[in-house]
Amino acid sequence: MTLLVTGGAGFIGSNFVHHWLAEHDEPLVNLDKLTYAGNLGNLQALAQDKRHVFVQGDIGDTALVSQLLQHYQPRAVLHFAAESHVDRSIHGPLDFIQTNVVGTGHLLESVRAYWGALAADPQHRFRFLHVSTDEVYGSLSPDAVAFTETHPYEPNSPYAASKASSDHLVRAWHHTYGLPVLTTNCSNNYGPFHFPEKLIPLVIHHALAGKPLPVYGDGMQVRDWLYVQDHCRAIERVLQAGTPGETYNIGGWNEKPNIEVVRTVCHLLDELQPRGDGQSYAEQITFVKDRAGHDRRYAIDARKINDTLGWRPVETFETGLRKTVQWYLNHADWVSSVTSGAYRQWVDLQYGG
Ligand code: NAD
Ligand code: DAU
Repeated sequence: MTLLVTGGAGFIGSNFVHHWLAEHDEPLVNLDKLTYAGNLGNLQALAQDKRHVFVQGDIGDTALVSQLLQHYQPRAVLHFAAESHVDRSIHGPLDFIQTNVVGTGHLLESVRAYWGALAADPQHRFRFLHVSTDEVYGSLSPDAVAFTETHPYEPNSPYAASKASSDHLVRAWHHTYGLPVLTTNCSNNYGPFHFPEKLIPLVIHHALAGKPLPVYGDGMQVRDWLYVQDHCRAIERVLQAGTPGETYNIGGWNEKPNIEVVRTVCHLLDELQPRGDGQSYAEQITFVKDRAGHDRRYAIDARKINDTLGWRPVETFETGLRKTVQWYLNHADWVSSVTSGAYRQWVDLQYGG
């Protein structure tokens, strides 16, 4: 019994790998290209753990993926690997099409060939779990009901469109070939190992560095925040008991406008590591030019996974965010290792230095 995980050196994938090996003895093969977002430092604690096999490579490399599938004979593939940052997709959409669409297509073909040749029992039990996002549904008006699994797809950013495309490929491989797929569409995650290009870790990093805290537009865009460990538990549950061909929305029932999130992070930092001059970190908040095509509101209706699989989040935003801020304060070495040259170039490009 083995799992093949793609993108397990990124934020959610590495949290999943840690979670899985803390809860199970089943080994796991971790295929990751190690792009700027992938970091072996996220997996350092597993360096001596024989249950974790790391392989650097691309999901689109069919020879490599087929060899891994043949050699390790996984009972499931969990597909986390993606280009994941909306702002980067606005600057350079083609990388997103290459990995999220073309890469997922190649991966599905490698997996289909492997699955098709399995004996009846392992073939019946095999699962391909595709980790996707709520952004495929587009933007909600302030009083609209939250996204259910039947909400129409209306992706707005190149990132969201590439993820929507990958969801459609996964769906088609089930409908046409019978591949036993599961798709999860989750809201915004936060927690340890979150790369500091995304809002919460960027605000923590910039606050401590004495830099402006950039809030796009009026800061009233709403996201539904979920602690990453809760997302990992949801994926574990869908893998265990989800019905092939079904999709599951995952969210925290926790809608917050961005400005409130940023202020809450500032207040936690004021408490846990006060500024030397006695002022609040909130003094560093700076409203900047809005993101192009910025979605106004996301909200997930997570009743299906709750009612059918019994999953619900454990952390509240208050407990999860406190843990997260404390984790960043305790892991200054990790932050400095991921905010070197290439990261600074990104910050200059996005925020104009
Ligand atoms: P991330 O950017 O932190 O990590 C992505 C990982 O994929 C990296 O380790 C990277 O090296 C790897 N990767 C990229 N291209 C690859 C390729 N061609 N082959 C192999 N590996 C490759 O992303 P994340 O935030 O951990 O997101 C993981 C998944 O969850 C993505 O599919 C994303 O769309 C989805 N998701 C993310 C969130 C969120 O809030 N972060 C919410 C919902 C869904
Ligand atoms: O909803 C799920 C999605 O959440 C995932 O699919 C994506 O992979 C993940 O990156 C995330 O996308 P967002 O665009 O919502 O996350 P981000 O952290 O980039 O931004 C959160 C909100 O904060 C968004 O409304 C934009 C805003 N923002 C972001 C940054 C980086 C700012 O105001 N300032 C910033 O500097």
